[in-house]
Amino acid sequence: MRISVIGCGYLGAVHAAAMASIGHDVVGIDVDERKVEALSQGKAPFFEPGLAEILTEGVASGRLTFTTDMAAARGAEVHFVGVGTPQQADGYAADLTYVNAAFDALAAYLQPGDIVAGKSTVPVGTAAALASTVSDAGATLAWNPEFLREGWAVQDTIDPDRLVVGVPSGEEGERAADILRAVYHPAVAKGTPFIVTDYATAELVKVSANAFLATKISFINAMAEIAEVTGADVTQLADAIGHDVRIGRRFLGAGIGFGGGCLPKDIRAFSARAEELGRGESVAFLREVDAINLRRRERAVQLVIDGLGGSVFGRKVAVLGAAFKPHSDDVRDSPALDVAVRLHGLGAEVVVTDPQAVENARRSHPQLTYAEARDEALTGADAVVIVTEWDEYRRELSPEHAASLARGRVVVDGRNCLNASAWREAGWSYHGMGRP
Ligand code: UDX
Repeated sequence: MRISVIGCGYLGAVHAAAMASIGHDVVGIDVDERKVEALSQGKAPFFEPGLAEILTEGVASGRLTFTTDMAAARGAEVHFVGVGTPQQADGYAADLTYVNAAFDALAAYLQPGDIVAGKSTVPVGTAAALASTVSDAGATLAWNPEFLREGWAVQDTIDPDRLVVGVPSGEEGERAADILRAVYHPAVAKGTPFIVTDYATAELVKVSANAFLATKISFINAMAEIAEVTGADVTQLADAIGHDVRIGRRFLGAGIGFGGGCLPKDIRAFSARAEELGRGESVAFLREVDAINLRRRERAVQLVIDGLGGSVFGRKVAVLGAAFKPHSDDVRDSPALDVAVRLHGLGAEVVVTDPQAVENARRSHPQLTYAEARDEALTGADAVVIVTEWDEYRRELSPEHAASLARGRVVVDGRNCLNASAWREAGWSYHGMGRP
C-alpha cells in the first residue's frame, strides 16, 4: 500500500521505516530539513537499535523516501500522523500545536477514501475535534495509538502486543478498520489482538496504559521510601510481590524513577484533561505519582551527600548515565541528568558519561562536564553514581576496576542494578534506593 507518515521523530521515523520493511511504499514527511536529509541517506537521526538497518534497506529498495514537502502525501491511501505533543510551556496540558498544524497542512492533499490514522498521544476528545478536517475531504479519521518503547521501537512497531484502532461508527469505520488491518498484515496474520473502538476509547487506552505504568513505578518507589525508614529491602519486596501473577515483577524496578518523552508529560496532560472534563478527582492520584517520582531524584542526591560526609562541594562525582533509560539516547526529562544537574548546583565537580546520549545531553545541559568514555569519568572520582542501567555499568564494570580508577569508595546505585555484596566486598560503601 502507499503510505505517508507525517512527523519523523522517535515515533514517525521508526513507523515509516517499519512500514517499508513490511512491504509498503512509504513517504515520511517532516518540517525539519536536517532530519529529512539524514533519513533520506538512510541515517537514523537518533539512536534506536535496529533502525539504521531497516532505514538503509528501505531507502535502498526505493520503497522509503523522506521529504519536507507535504504535497508528497497526495496519493497515499493511509496517512499516519505521528507528530509530538509536548507539555505546554506554562502548564500541564498537552501542546497540540504540531498536531493541529499537521492536520491543517495534510487536509489540502487528502483524497476521497483516504484514511488518516492519528498516532500522536493526545488528550481524549482530540480525534472527535479533528474528524471534520478529514471528512471534509471525503477521507476517514482513525485513531491508532502507539505503544512502542524506545530502545525496542522497531520490534514493538513490527510486532506489537496489541493494535488499537478508534474509528467512527458504521460502515465507514468498518472500512477504515479493514484498511488498517491490511496495513498491519504480518501482525494481524499472526493473531495479534486487533481492538476496534470509538475515538475516545482509543485515545484513553494510550494515556491510561501510560498512567498505569507510571503508577506501578511510583508504587514501588513509595515502598522504597518506607523501606528506607524501616531497614527493609525494596528489591526483595518487589521480587516477592512480583511472583503474584496478578501483580507481576515488570515495572517494579525501584530507583530514581521514570522520565523520557512520554510517561511524565502524559500523566500531567491526563490530569489536566480530566480537570477540564470536571473529573480531576478521578486521576488526582497521578499528582502523587508524579510527586513520588520527582522525590526519588532528590533522594539519590541526598545519598551522594551523605556518602561524602555531608557535602558534595568541590568533590568529583562520576555520573554514569544521561539517557532516561538504557538503549536510548533520549534525554528528555531524564532523571539521570536531573540528578547530575542537582549535584552540579550543589557545587560538585560532576562528570557525566553515557554510551549514546552525551551529544544530546551536552546540547540540553551545556553547563555540565562530559566524558565520552566511562573510565575517563571514573578517574579520580570521589563518588560514583549510576543513574542509567546500561550494561556497560551494570554488568561490565567490576567494582575492582572502578576502584582502580576512582579516588573515593562511595557508590550510589540509582537503579538498584549492581550486585551490592560484590561492591561491598571490594571495599565500596554501597548505597541503593530503598535498600539497607
Ligand atoms: C513508555 C511506554 O512503555 C510505552 O508503551 C509508551 O508508548 C511510551 O512510554 P518509554 O518512554 O520508551 O515507553 O520507556 P519505558 O520503558 O516505559 O520506561 C519509562 C521510564 O520508566 C524510564 O525512565 C525507565 O527507566 C523507568 N522505569 C521503568 C523505572 O524506573 N522502573 C521500572 O521498573 C521500569
